[in-house]
Amino acid sequence: GLFTKRENKIESVIKSEEFVDSIRISVTDANIRKQVELLGLTAEDLATLRSVFPIIEPHISSIVAKFYDNLSTHEHLLKIINTHSSIERLRKSLNKHLLLTLKGVDLDDSYIKTLDRIAMAHVRIDLDPQWYLATFHHIYENVMEVFEEATPSLQDWKTYSKALSKCLNLEQQIVIA
Ligand code: HEM
Repeated sequence: GLFTKRENKIESVIKSEEFVDSIRISVTDANIRKQVELLGLTAEDLATLRSVFPIIEPHISSIVAKFYDNLSTHEHLLKIINTHSSIERLRKSLNKHLLLTLKGVDLDDSYIKTLDRIAMAHVRIDLDPQWYLATFHHIYENVMEVFEEATPSLQDWKTYSKALSKCLNLEQQIVIA
């Protein structure tokens, strides 16, 4: 009846088709291009993030706060931070960085340079990859939580989850390598 029809037609909050033409994938590094291809990360995925960004952006500072709250409960990680920097300073760095990553960044050489700088910062402080990867998972979860609040659509959930996961995975591959 009318009801089921309506339920099956939850309007999508993802408008990737409006953004896909604005996405640039121009990385020159041949290896990274292969990584992008292997992941199956497409302009569609980046356009998905770009179209959803207005929903996520207002929550970034609270996602960052949660990130450091969680990290602070692990003494060895807190010690690394306080030895080399401070939560106050890193909050600003991570905030700025997530604004970039979650907006559906163009995959160009300048983005890769940003990731290289992050890699170098973590090499400098001797952060083992497992801590970086584990804490990254919280970012994924917390962004998905924000997204889930915005729509009951399972299809939207799948589309956004895949796109987000691929983008964060690529970032992790590049920072860790
Ligand atoms: C630096 C991101 C995990 C400790 C940074 C910077 C960014 C960043 C953007 C600034 C880099 C720059 O100077 O340009 C991230 C992301 C992480 C992550 C996205 C995972 C999701 C961690 C963890 C720790 C950590 C788990 C330690 C427990 C630090 C420290 C610096 C830093 C101490 C400052 C290094 C310096 O000033 O030389 N990180 N980080 N990070 N990160 Fe992370």
